[in-house]
Amino acid sequence: MLASSVSLQTKLPAVGKTIFSKMSEMALEYGAINLSQGFPDAQLDPLLQEEVTKAMLANKNQYAPAAGTLELRTAISKYAKRQFEQSYDPQSEVLITSGATQALQSAITALVKEGDEVIIFTPAYDSYVPAVELAGATPVYCRLKYPDYSIDWKEFKRLVNRKTKLVILNSPHNPSGRLLSSADIDQLIRLTDGTDILILSDEVYHNILFDGKDHHSMASYPKLAERSIVVGSLGKMLNVTGWKIGFCLAPKLILSEILKVHQYTVFSVNTPMQLGVASFLEKYPNKINELLSPLQAKRDLFVKEISKGKFKALPCDGSYFCLLNYSEISDEDDVKFSEWLAKEVRVSAIPLSVFYHNPEQNKVLRFCFAKEDDVLIEAAKRLNAL
Ligand SMILES: Cc1ncc(COP(=O)(O)O)c(C=O)c1O
Repeated sequence: MLASSVSLQTKLPAVGKTIFSKMSEMALEYGAINLSQGFPDAQLDPLLQEEVTKAMLANKNQYAPAAGTLELRTAISKYAKRQFEQSYDPQSEVLITSGATQALQSAITALVKEGDEVIIFTPAYDSYVPAVELAGATPVYCRLKYPDYSIDWKEFKRLVNRKTKLVILNSPHNPSGRLLSSADIDQLIRLTDGTDILILSDEVYHNILFDGKDHHSMASYPKLAERSIVVGSLGKMLNVTGWKIGFCLAPKLILSEILKVHQYTVFSVNTPMQLGVASFLEKYPNKINELLSPLQAKRDLFVKEISKGKFKALPCDGSYFCLLNYSEISDEDDVKFSEWLAKEVRVSAIPLSVFYHNPEQNKVLRFCFAKEDDVLIEAAKRLNAL
């Protein structure tokens, strides 16, 4: 270990080791089933592997254009037209990013500054707040109502003021797995119409939906699309989260500002992956649904198995996640309970309080069910023994 005597002031004093790393480490240490991190067990699709390999062997291994290869931007634009019924110009309204994470970070850096306020609904995915703080803006928290995690629009309205620059939305929602409704869309249109408020819409789970439910994309509503940055993750769409490839869609006026930050952050995303994914999407447009469709059966299996015990599953409309309430089992707070669960029951999950600014103790843990069936059955068996 290298000792350093320099004095350094952290820019993110509240950030330490994330609970995601901690729970994964505990899962390893105690041999626990890891249902804490959000990634699928699924195998790489051989046709996708073939397309990416072809691009590498064709020597397409040098820098791509900053905004992404035109092939992938065009494929994403066509996808957006099919999926969201909105036209985005591949030349100026589509940006290929290093995962959704970098799209979110670059958008926030480009669009907000000191003195601006950003409304974030809690519980929230963990990357939003540090990005807002690094940009010098102020996060303003709007609490989703427990237990259905719906938006309290009266509270939202109370929080909006002249300084409100950006609202961050996430549907299907991580951690709750709930969706925005058409009534939510009406409220959003009503409350942002005539303002300069921008919407950053994290839609990485937009095609992981259950029970025939519909996803309402910001892209699908012209009044919202004109002020929105829609973020997607090809890692999630193609079961390759480790490839870290995503995109954002926005009107040219907004996207050109994000591109300025993007080109000095990563410059561009790796070329053979972009070309391989582009030709995969062009050749097999229905493959995404095929790759993601097993998740409905996995959610059903996990919820059915869990219903035999004392954990209570909360409704889940989409995403990789299901929330379980453990109030019939323990009075312990959720962080302590999840640590005990990893060590003694050998199942790791994420305590919900970590997704809040001012933690709420509802005795709820988040479990990722995007795993092999036998893993889910064994995890439920261990949990049901309590
Ligand atoms: C809500 C949400 N947004 C963004 C991301 C990051 O996606 P990517 O892996 O494409 O960066 C995740 C990953 O878990 C997520 O759950």
